[in-house]
Amino acid sequence: MSRFYVTTPIYYVNDVPHLGTAYTTIAADALRRAHQLFGDATFLLTGTDEHGLKIERQALEKGMEPLAFADQASASFRAAWPELRVEPDYFIRTTEPAHKAFVQDLWRRIEAAGDLYEGSYEDWYCVGCESFKTEKELEQPGNLCPLHKKAVERVKEQTYFFRLSRWEKPLLELYERRPDFVRPESRRNEVVSFVSSGLRDLSVSRTSFSWGIPVPGDEKHVMYVWFDALTNYRSALAAAGKDGFWPRAGSDARVLHLMGKDILRFHAVYWPAFLLAAGYSQDELPSQIFAHGFLTVDGQKMSKSLRNAVDPLRLARKLGPDVLRYQLLRSVAFGQDGDFDHAGMLERYNADLGKNIGNLLQRTLGLCSRFTGSKRPDLPSLVGIEPLTRRLITNLEESVNLKLEASRQAWENMEVHRAMELAMAMGDDANGFVNDAAPWAAAKAGDMTRVEAVLAALLEVLRILSILLWPAMPGKADELRQQLGLGPISPCEGEARWPSRFEPLQGGGELSPGTPLFPMYDKDQVKALLDELVPPREEAPSPEVKAPTPVAGAPAEELAPIPFEDFARVELKVGVVLSCERVPRKDKLLRLQVDLGEEAPRPIVAGLALSFTPESLVGRRVVVVSNLEPRSFGKGLVSHGMLLATGAPESLTLASVDGDVAPGARLK
Ligand code: MSP
Repeated sequence: MSRFYVTTPIYYVNDVPHLGTAYTTIAADALRRAHQLFGDATFLLTGTDEHGLKIERQALEKGMEPLAFADQASASFRAAWPELRVEPDYFIRTTEPAHKAFVQDLWRRIEAAGDLYEGSYEDWYCVGCESFKTEKELEQPGNLCPLHKKAVERVKEQTYFFRLSRWEKPLLELYERRPDFVRPESRRNEVVSFVSSGLRDLSVSRTSFSWGIPVPGDEKHVMYVWFDALTNYRSALAAAGKDGFWPRAGSDARVLHLMGKDILRFHAVYWPAFLLAAGYSQDELPSQIFAHGFLTVDGQKMSKSLRNAVDPLRLARKLGPDVLRYQLLRSVAFGQDGDFDHAGMLERYNADLGKNIGNLLQRTLGLCSRFTGSKRPDLPSLVGIEPLTRRLITNLEESVNLKLEASRQAWENMEVHRAMELAMAMGDDANGFVNDAAPWAAAKAGDMTRVEAVLAALLEVLRILSILLWPAMPGKADELRQQLGLGPISPCEGEARWPSRFEPLQGGGELSPGTPLFPMYDKDQVKALLDELVPPREEAPSPEVKAPTPVAGAPAEELAPIPFEDFARVELKVGVVLSCERVPRKDKLLRLQVDLGEEAPRPIVAGLALSFTPESLVGRRVVVVSNLEPRSFGKGLVSHGMLLATGAPESLTLASVDGDVAPGARLK
């Protein structure tokens, strides 16, 4: 058994979980599950990055204390991941006291080693990246950050410098000695060339704002947010009492940092340099830094508004989390840039999951119900079996064994898409095998031994597939097992669950055929799903908001009576408006954050602007239809609820409730 520790970046709290952050997080969860199947002890870490100028400014804009602002956003990340079947062992927040103390300790060690010194600095800073930029990197005209396309700021300050230049040679030696330290290869080459071109000392403290971890002994400085953030990977283990997952000389611990290519440099250059400067030995550095590529959505770059329009939670609720997970892991070669294409996702669902795996299960269980009374047959000795069937079974066995090994290698080498491809190829083989072995013909000829041999082989492929698919689709894999009459996968440290080879189970157990595992979408369903899920294209002029109005008005005509059950499907809740602002270029709309007693406030867009100023609504108790499907107003503006009101658009009266009713109370 070895120890496998995998991390995601900790996400900034000025954003919500989106498809990009979901991608890294799902990949990390799938990799950890694969290692659980190998019998490794595993640890999965994610969390939120809460300090720095960007967060301080956002909180101020919202009129909130930075910590209260971070509390809300961090809670929305924490709540999101389990909905995607991601199960972190620890969720770190950089505002945790234990993390702060750990970071300050690391600072003191580096200071004691002589790698921090005071000086003054003048350079360009991009608040979006939380990073200094050299003149060369900027786009002209306008001194724009190449990533954020926003003007950088000129920063001139007293600062502590980290003596990064001193680590140039040791880092190059590290990349040389450990060619796998940075992966994939192309990214490693970029890092080597960046470091070879010379490292400047790095400014690691700021004095012009205060939302950060104070520098020990000089509290007018707060630490550079990346110094604080990167340290989470080590401090979280200490907080969780799992220091054994950090590598030491001679230990079996392996640490994998996963991230997008945008932040590779911080991980592959600054982080090992900080650790080395603090006295960590080469053996005590992370084992691998793996940068995956960037996703576009339906061919479009994920701008902030588009990112928010493609809500992974909404996709997961609509299609099931496993379908989203499969698409993300299968459709993009892990490490390269790729496109998340909604139409492609549904096509792939039908082809890979419906026609291949789902169909294989249904056919096999159908045949078992016809010929064995839904009992698992034994694989009879192949010796006496009709030669063609014997050859077909032996071929299937060989190809399954080869794919099993290749799939294990693929997980080890971070070729997640390849592992998925191999599982599908195994399904294809088995579907071909049923056609070739034609057990129905054997049954007609009365050769029940042959029928049983074919069915036992098919059930074995399905059992193996349930394990191979589990890292990507844990829910569906367990459903598949249930139909095979097997228990869910429950990994156990030190005991491999990964199948060693094709080895049919003893016969006798009851199979339990159920509803189709992956019911196929027909043309009309695909169209309806695409209409609902695909966000409007960004270049298109935003559609004018027309009726139905975003606020429920008085109905123009009497409606027919409805049964009580219909009314009961509408969820009405008391909300309190936390913040409210106008929407640029939409003179009728206001954008509100409404407390409904949930983990995070609800973003609601409402046509109230002709009747109310934003300030007059803050603190008001309102009545919200809280189970309406989210509604897009274009340009990434999405409403997650509707306020009740009556009257003409310029003289609306809001529905409310008497008394001090708690937010979230249901109206019945
Ligand atoms: N807070 C820092 C990370 C500190 S780690 C010590 C940060 N946070 S972030 O919220 O901006 O998250 C960046 C990460 O989100 C990327 O590295 C990547 O993992 C993920 N992605 C964001 N957009 C993405 C795509 N369009 N495609 C794929 N991944 C993307 O940076």
